[in-house]
Amino acid sequence: MTFEQAKEKLQKYGQEHVFRYYDELSDTEKNELIAQVEDTDFTVLDYLEHKDAISERGEFSPLKAMELAEIEDGRGEFYKEGVKALKEGKAAALLLAGGMGTRLGSDAPKGTYDIGLTKHVYIFERLIENLLDVTEAIGVWPRLFIMTSEKNHDATVAFLKEHDYFGYKEDRITFFKQDMAPACDDNGKVYLEGKGRIATSPNGNAGWYQSMKKVGIDKILADEGIEWINLFAVDNVLQRILDPVFLGATIQSKTAVGAKVVKKAAPDEKVGVICLEDGRPSIVEYYELSQEMMDAKDDSGNPAYNFGVILNYLFYIPELNKVADKGTMMHVVRKKIPCLNESGELIKPETENGYKFEQLVLDLIHELPSCLPFEVVREKEFAPIKNKTGIDSVESARMLCKLNGIEL
Ligand code: UTP
Repeated sequence: MTFEQAKEKLQKYGQEHVFRYYDELSDTEKNELIAQVEDTDFTVLDYLEHKDAISERGEFSPLKAMELAEIEDGRGEFYKEGVKALKEGKAAALLLAGGMGTRLGSDAPKGTYDIGLTKHVYIFERLIENLLDVTEAIGVWPRLFIMTSEKNHDATVAFLKEHDYFGYKEDRITFFKQDMAPACDDNGKVYLEGKGRIATSPNGNAGWYQSMKKVGIDKILADEGIEWINLFAVDNVLQRILDPVFLGATIQSKTAVGAKVVKKAAPDEKVGVICLEDGRPSIVEYYELSQEMMDAKDDSGNPAYNFGVILNYLFYIPELNKVADKGTMMHVVRKKIPCLNESGELIKPETENGYKFEQLVLDLIHELPSCLPFEVVREKEFAPIKNKTGIDSVESARMLCKLNGIEL
């Protein structure tokens, strides 16, 4: 793209201010900025106009989960099936580590956070130990894909290399970067994070498969016969990864996606609840649950909308391929965005000053035809770290690790 073409593109979207400092830039910086203008999808900014529109939801109905007792009964069978799939190389793991983790308040990648008390225990270390628990017992080395973003890629790769991948085999790990979206002010003007750089942020965790496809990882999956991807978040330090029982149960259920879920602690707990929406799997946010839904009971007299998702899913690739090119809903999220002030100095705002654009994996689930919610014991498998203190924090995760005999 030439300077003139870039200028034209910016004019088209009302973003001419991006070239405000152009004349001050070196030739390399000028070229980088033009390339960024070329790469940036400014059409996402249109979603700002609709940010207050309540998205139309369909008709909700309960989706039965496979509960602990049923899992216990089938454990042997499921385990056998899961181990077989792992031995045949049909399953891989994918760590979502592209988020900014702003709530934790550290600029470093979230996985590098040290939750140790008497020794170093990094979040990445905990996750890889959990994965190794499974793989070492079975004697396999499934592929581990790690999604980063432009903002934390180099730091993530360097950290894991420095720590020798916490015992995982380097040649079984593949990093890839997710896509970015521009961040803007209240009037839809993109912020600059440098004189030659538009402020961007990771575009949410729904685009993982498209980002994988961009760098050809879908070919690896096809060539190696990988059918299942266990997607998991960076922040749950207790989760089981490539759990053979979960894998076996999901394979046997013949559903397009398996979702680990926990029983809600209270009817109004702030978790996304798995259910059906117009007959397809869906996740309803806690604030969307009507009183009627909170009161609804299943055949056994238990709450019908009783299971919250923990961002640990098994996706069946052949089903995902059918919907991969379909877009999912855009979420416009108010956030603190570091940006240049009027004097051209970089500031880190104390309060929210603009919007980011994200697509979420829960909307991807709704594109799929069927789902198996698979119950796990909350105290054993759910210790998310979102904040420094309080609910879902470093503190609460430490307590849960202790409860599970993990030394910190
Ligand atoms: P969160 O919803 O906790 O978002 O992500 P976040 O951006 O990391 O944290 P805050 O809101 O700024 O504090 C859930 C999971 O999805 C990943 C995160 O890394 C985490 O594993 N994620 C999120 C991505 O990989 N990419 C994204 O664009 C967003």
